[in-house]
Amino acid sequence: MKISLKLVTVLGVAIVAGGLQLDKVAQATAEPEKQPAEEKVLHAYGDTLILKKEPVGNMFNHKSHVIEYELSCDSCHPDLFERKRGAAKANGDYTMASLEEGMYCGACHDGDTAFNTVDEDTCITCHGSDMVEPETVVFVKPVKAVIFSHTEHTEMGFECASCHSELFEMKVGAAEEQPGKFTMVALYEGKYCGACHNGDDAFASDTLCTTCHIGVQGFERMHGGGEKTAAKGHE
Ligand code: HEC
Ligand code: HEC
Ligand code: HEC
Ligand code: HEC
Ligand code: HEC
Ligand code: HEC
Repeated sequence: MKISLKLVTVLGVAIVAGGLQLDKVAQATAEPEKQPAEEKVLHAYGDTLILKKEPVGNMFNHKSHVIEYELSCDSCHPDLFERKRGAAKANGDYTMASLEEGMYCGACHDGDTAFNTVDEDTCITCHGSDMVEPETVVFVKPVKAVIFSHTEHTEMGFECASCHSELFEMKVGAAEEQPGKFTMVALYEGKYCGACHNGDDAFASDTLCTTCHIGVQGFERMHGGGEKTAAKGHE
């Protein structure tokens, strides 16, 4: 991976642009009602916080890469990334595995040019979370209570991608924030847990009700009658 620092030309422009943008950001903070116009300017220069996609919020910052780390546009465009937000995602291979193989962000984030993607303490820098797997998730909406042993499911050998982020966001409580969607009917249609609990890949969702439904009593045994809406083990 070569990083060309075209300091004279590109970065010169970028710094001018960056200066501009800093003003704009300051303005935007002071006058939130002017947001749409500012956004347009920011987009034009790619000073965008990219990748507002699960499992992450914002994790890539153009400005820091271009201005602070002095990377020219062509160290990323077009070889590593198209100049189009969402293009990498649409390729279907935008995963930690490909990053580790040196693709996309992994071209630099290899522990050499920039911090790596495998050490546990790096996750939070990009994902904004330490990505610690919950031991158990207990759903309490719409009915109390359904148990999901995260540990047992990953120990069965499933990859993270078999559930994240197609079936479930990587955020405890997210499915429950979709009232009317996270239901038995959805499970029977093969969504959420029903993608596997279909009688084929795992016991069907219309059987063994109490294996998943531990009920109010089960919940109270686990949580001493607490009033939390979403609970996870191992904190
Ligand atoms: C360190 C890598 C990197 C550098 C350097 C970089 N970009 Fe990007 N750029 C990205 C990534 C990542 C995306 C998002 C691509 C995706 O989602 O597939 C992106 C997206 C864009 C987009 C599309 C934005 C949108 O909202 O659709 C534009 C425009 C862009 N870059 C311009 C630039 C310009 C101009 C420069 C130089 C001043 C630059 N980039 C430098 C990584 C970089
Ligand atoms: C062309 C090289 C290059 C590419 C490609 C690249 N980075 Fe970086 N990144 C750097 C360098 C250099 C640093 C600063 C050095 C360090 O912290 O190790 C950095 C720092 C960061 C930081 C620290 C905080 C911040 O915002 O500055 C984050 C987060 C980050 N990169 C995320 C990403 C993500 C996500 C991608 C892919 C979308 C990516 N980077 C692609 C070179 C790159
Ligand atoms: C340099 C930034 C960076 C670091 C560091 C990083 N990730 Fe990622 N991660 C990404 C990007 C980029 C994606 C793809 C984003 C998307 O799908 O929108 C991703 C996706 C994921 C995914 C979902 C897709 C998949 O590959 O399964 C998981 C899980 C994940 N990361 C876990 C981790 C863990 C655990 C760590 C710490 C050991 C970590 N990541 C460190 C950038 C990073
Ligand atoms: C069988 C399905 C399944 C697999 C496989 C799986 N997860 Fe999850 N994960 C879930 C569910 C369900 C939730 C809770 C989502 C919700 O409440 O909407 C969750 C939540 C999470 C959370 C959020 C924790 C929090 O405190 O908010 C993280 C982080 C996570 N998983 C990481 C992983 C990682 C890393 C892997 C791979 C090693 C993985 N998961 C594999 C189903 C799965
Ligand atoms: C990626 C596939 C997959 C998904 C998604 C999945 N499971 Fe499972 N689950 C399995 C398999 C395989 C078993 C092993 C039992 C079997 O083969 O019937 C299992 C076993 C279980 C068990 C019994 C063992 C234990 O862990 O106590 C429960 C309860 C359970 N799942 C609940 C859920 C719930 C609730 C969800 C949704 C939040 C869910 N599962 C999503 C594949 C899955
Ligand atoms: C694979 C695990 C699993 C099995 C098996 C299962 N459920 Fe569910 N059930 C869920 C999940 C997940 C939810 C949504 C979360 C919540 O309500 O806490 C849910 C929600 C419900 C709801 C409230 C939402 C709705 O659809 O009305 C009812 C009622 C329900 N289940 C009844 C049953 C009955 C009856 C059975 C046995 C025939 C059964 N469930 C078997 C996982 C399961």
